[in-house]
Amino acid sequence: MADPNARERGPGGPRLVAYTSAEGHYSLQKNAGLAGLGRRSVRAIQVDERGRMSVPALLEAIEADRRARHRPFLVNATAGTTVRGAFDPIARIAAVSRGEGLWLHVDGAFGGTLLLSPEHRHRLAGCERADSFAWDPHKMMGIPLQSSVLLVSRPGLLSACLDENAEYLFQSDPDELNPGRRSLQCGRPNDALKLWAAWQRLGDRGWAERVGRQVALARRAARLVDADPELLLVEEPASVNVCFEVPGARQRRRLREAGSGWAPEDRLRNSRRATGDPPRLREPGPRRGTFPRARTASTRVVLLTSGPRAPWAAPRQTPVRDLGGCRVGPRNQLLAPPGP
Ligand SMILES: Cc1ncc(COP(=O)(O)O)c(C=O)c1O
Repeated sequence: MADPNARERGPGGPRLVAYTSAEGHYSLQKNAGLAGLGRRSVRAIQVDERGRMSVPALLEAIEADRRARHRPFLVNATAGTTVRGAFDPIARIAAVSRGEGLWLHVDGAFGGTLLLSPEHRHRLAGCERADSFAWDPHKMMGIPLQSSVLLVSRPGLLSACLDENAEYLFQSDPDELNPGRRSLQCGRPNDALKLWAAWQRLGDRGWAERVGRQVALARRAARLVDADPELLLVEEPASVNVCFEVPGARQRRRLREAGSGWAPEDRLRNSRRATGDPPRLREPGPRRGTFPRARTASTRVVLLTSGPRAPWAAPRQTPVRDLGGCRVGPRNQLLAPPGP
């Protein structure tokens, strides 16, 4: 009989254990449950003051699991965490994974796009040593949902894992033209076409410029937050996420009582602005647990809010024209039928 607790505990026998940062995406736990490994098989490794996975803590956790006769098998390094946009130290994590014989996955769903910018791709240094890499053009690149890419380092690996050789479907196309033999789904939309079309239009240089502009806009947004006495910048943006605090009701009351601006201890953190020093953000040193999301607002600078038009937009045309008595829209669509 199926074990109703399998989603939590996983199967019996030595536990296969995966590692991700405490600020990594929830999909790790969710998929460990789905894959039958058990959600509890995912270790949330503590992060440093900038939200990056601590490598010594990772090593400690692996050692502890080996001592407990579990079987470590996977490390997930995040390139661009969901809230803070932090980049785990991938090169150091790759060295640990190699040394320990573990699969290295890089979750670049959000920050993988920085690879398109020669100026910013160093944030992902070491990702070339990953065994697999996930990247979502529907995030920073603004491609309409959904457009997700999974890259694996070993050619043929996906087919080896996923091919079902369904002869009634896979008859004539050569394998490289037939993604059905190496993908999880059977029927699916053509998600690659939108990405291809946008790339045709922008080219590598266009993407590099857009990424550079997004990062610059995030820095500018951070300066605006920092200059606003009602807001507190939590940290300098690691990429395009800008995290700031807004005073809650109790804090507002304190602010009112104190006159205006931030309460004394908060002003202390903001006071460096007056001296011209970079703002003092959080106390340095490793922190346990996750980012205090409840009190913190975060915004991502994405393509749709910045710069020129979206890459897939139609070329500029006269918005509405009159053609032989018909009103015609920018894509030549008929807006009003000809009059009687
Ligand atoms: C770091 C990270 N990984 C994975 C995901 C999941 O993305 P999706 O389900 O859109 O592919 C997200 C979504 O925000 C994310 O920020």
